[in-house]
Parts: sequence; structure tokens; C-alpha cells
Amino acid sequence: MNVYIKTYGCQMNERDSESAAAMLVSAGHRIAGTEEEADIVILNTCSVREQAERKAIGKLGILKKLKRERPHMIFGIMGCMAQSRGEELLKSVEHLDFAVGTDNIHAIPEIVEEIVRKKRKIRCDDRRGADTPGIDAHRINAEQGQFSAFLSISRGCNRYCSYCIVPYVRGPERSRDMDGIVAEARSLADHGIREIMLLGQNVAAYGLDGVPPPIAEDNSPFSELLERISAIDGIRRIRFTSPHPAFFNRKLIETIARLPKVCKCIHLPLQSGSDRILQRMNRPYDAEHYMNIIRSLRELVEGINFSTDIIVGFPGETEEDFEATRRIMREAAYDNAFIFKYSPRRGTVAAKMPDDVPQEEKERRNALLLRDLAEINASRNRELVGKTFEVLAEGPSKRNAARWSGRTDTFKLAVFPPSPGLKPGDFVRVRIERATPMTLYGSIEG
Ligand code: 5AD
Ligand code: SF4
Repeated sequence: MNVYIKTYGCQMNERDSESAAAMLVSAGHRIAGTEEEADIVILNTCSVREQAERKAIGKLGILKKLKRERPHMIFGIMGCMAQSRGEELLKSVEHLDFAVGTDNIHAIPEIVEEIVRKKRKIRCDDRRGADTPGIDAHRINAEQGQFSAFLSISRGCNRYCSYCIVPYVRGPERSRDMDGIVAEARSLADHGIREIMLLGQNVAAYGLDGVPPPIAEDNSPFSELLERISAIDGIRRIRFTSPHPAFFNRKLIETIARLPKVCKCIHLPLQSGSDRILQRMNRPYDAEHYMNIIRSLRELVEGINFSTDIIVGFPGETEEDFEATRRIMREAAYDNAFIFKYSPRRGTVAAKMPDDVPQEEKERRNALLLRDLAEINASRNRELVGKTFEVLAEGPSKRNAARWSGRTDTFKLAVFPPSPGLKPGDFVRVRIERATPMTLYGSIEG
């Protein structure tokens, strides 16, 4: 049958969708490009913010029309919302056939088969089984020149940041076995992958068996993993997301600085620049610790840049707290920042605190941070004019097919006229001639 999977939310979900797709293909199904061509539609859902849940529920409603036209169709949900609200949704949404939780992706092909045979609703959100079968299943499209892949190194989270639903829906933190991860990376390299993005809710805690911070300065199994993946010949670039600042120690800083394949663009979620709010968020670090990581890396690695996640309007956030966040925003001089307006999530500790920052104020703070970010980017990108960067060529640019785009090691988007015979996945040296806040423009150096 033809399967269409629509993914909401983070890269972990994208990776899970890919894994589900690979397993469905192994079971004899095909992946469809649109829901209209599909017999089975699966929504991979996100619960992290209220808006994400609303989107998926809205989409489920729209899909009802397809079921009326083609009654044989099967509809399922997977991911965070399937884990936390699967039972309720199966009851309330008549055309929903299955809900598969975050640790049961491997069960999807079997569930589909059973629904076809027995025409009954199925819920599967058991946490007892480790979701290992298929965790390493990939769909690599070598013909389309795929050169970049996600690789999950751990599942779940033990941090319980007070605003966050993830530990409740994705379960406790479990690190995968290092040899298995390295074998998967090697196999990806053998299939033409040149760039790997390591994924986990808190990658810096990889292999620490869930111990809480503070972590000894020289204890970092994640560093060892970076080292082993770096040793794989075909892999040229390694990225990762996200590390929790409280787990970022000396060893990790030195490893990032030492290994040339580890990209010089670090995503380091700040959440808030106010120590008081960080405490209420149950984020066990302060602004000083956070800035020390940034300063140390800047000292050791020339040209390194940072991106972050920030929440505005957390319960009790005053103007003064917000100004502390703005200060860090300027000091860290981020190249990118994902700014979120706080929304209470069911069952979290913060959901019991009064959501006392008015919506308009959340919006104002959000807009101010975005404006600060644009200013920082404009001036930082101007400084790059005249410099040359190694760029991983991705293919024709979206806006102008006569030009190609690609990413620098620091994840900057670079646009340039292609050289004859250039293929996606090739590395080229591009000299920057002009810059906007979002994009660098240049030419390939001969
Ligand atoms: N409200 C707003 N943003 C949130 N995030 C997580 N939970 C919430 C919430 N309840 C943000 C955090 C996290 C990112 C993935 O989503 O910044 O790093
Ligand atoms: Fe959520 Fe905090 Fe875990 Fe990140 S570290 S997934 S914000 S609980």
C-alpha cells in the first residue's frame, strides 16, 4: 500500500518518521509523496507546544474528508501526542485507526497489517520494550544525491525542565550502545553520507546513565563517541543537537576544539538569561556558566558560532529578567535563535504556576529578541565578506535555479554560481563577496 507520513516537530520526529518509512518499505509498502496518493496516512505528532498539538488535531479533522471519499484508507498517529493522548484521540476521532507511542515505532508495519485484516482500532504505547528493532533503519536516496543523515544516539530525557513535556512523553533517557552507533555511522558513510547530525534530547549526557549534573570535567562519553565517528573516513562533517549546558564540560569543549570534523556551529539552548528564571525552569546552571562555555569555545576555535533556544514569558518573567536574556543574546552574538512564547503543558511543574505574562507581552518580547538577532546577524555576516569557506554543495538554490546553495561548516547558507560537473555533496571553496543577514553570496575559488 502507499503510505504518506507527515511530520510535525523536531528533528527527532523527522528521524523517527524516516525509520518508520524504512520499516514500512521493508514490509512491502511504498512511500507516497502526498496524502491524496496514499492508502495509509500517518501523522507524526509533537506535543512540545500547544500550537503543535493544535496543528495535528486540525489536520486530523481535514483528513476525515479523504476517508469519506476512500473508505479503505487507514489513518494513524505516532510520536509525542500519540503517546500522551492516543487513547483519548482514538475514542474521539472516529476515522483514526491507530496511535503508536514514541517507543513502539518498530510495531507500525505489524499494526498496519492487523488493521487491514481485522479492521479494528489499535493503540500501542507500551514503554517496557526497548525500541531497538529498526532504530537504525534509514532510507537513503543516493540517486537524489543525499549526503546528509540524522542518527539518533539516545532517546528520552531525564532533565524535567519545569516547562517541558518531553520527559513525560518520550520517557526516561536511554543511551544507545556506542558500537551500534558507530556501526550505523559507518554504514551511512558506505552509502555516500558525508555529514551526520547526531540527535538526542540531551546529547551531552550520552552514556552517563542518567546521572544528574554536576558532571566531572573529564567525564564525557559523548566526546568519545565524537572521536570514534570522526575516525570514519567517508564522514566529513559531524553536527549534533541538543546539548544541555549543565552537561557541557572541559572534556567536551576540548574535543570539539580538537576534532576538525566536528562543525563549528554549536546549538546551546539558553532558555533564559535570568538566573532566577533558570532556577524556576529547573535548569541547573546560571548565565555565568553558560557564557563561560561560549567564551572557552570562542577562545579555542576561530570563527565558531552559536545558536540557541529561548522561551519568553515564562511564569514570573519580569522586564528585568527579560533584559538579562537580551544581554546574553548580545554577548553570545548568536547566529540563529529559536524564540518560543511560553505555553503551559499538561502535567509539567510550570503548568501549576500562574501563566502571568500577558500574550501581547510575550509577543513584544519575542519580536524584540528577533530584532536583536537580525541586527547581530547583519553585522556578523558583513564581517565575513572577503573570506573563503569550505561549502558542502546541496544543489540549485530555491530562489534562483541558476545558482547553487550549500552550507559552511558554521551552518551559514552560501549561494554561488556552480562550476561545471558540480554534484550535490561535493565540497567547494567559496569566496564571499556580499552578505545579507540570512545569506552569504560568493564564487567558487578556482
Ligand atoms: N513553551 C514554550 N516553549 C517550550 N519549549 C519547550 N517547552 C516549551 C513550552 N512549554 C521550547 C524550549 C525547547 C524547544 C524545543 O521548545 O525552548 O528547547
Ligand atoms: Fe525538555 Fe529540558 Fe529535556 Fe530539553 S533537557 S527535552 S527542555 S526536559
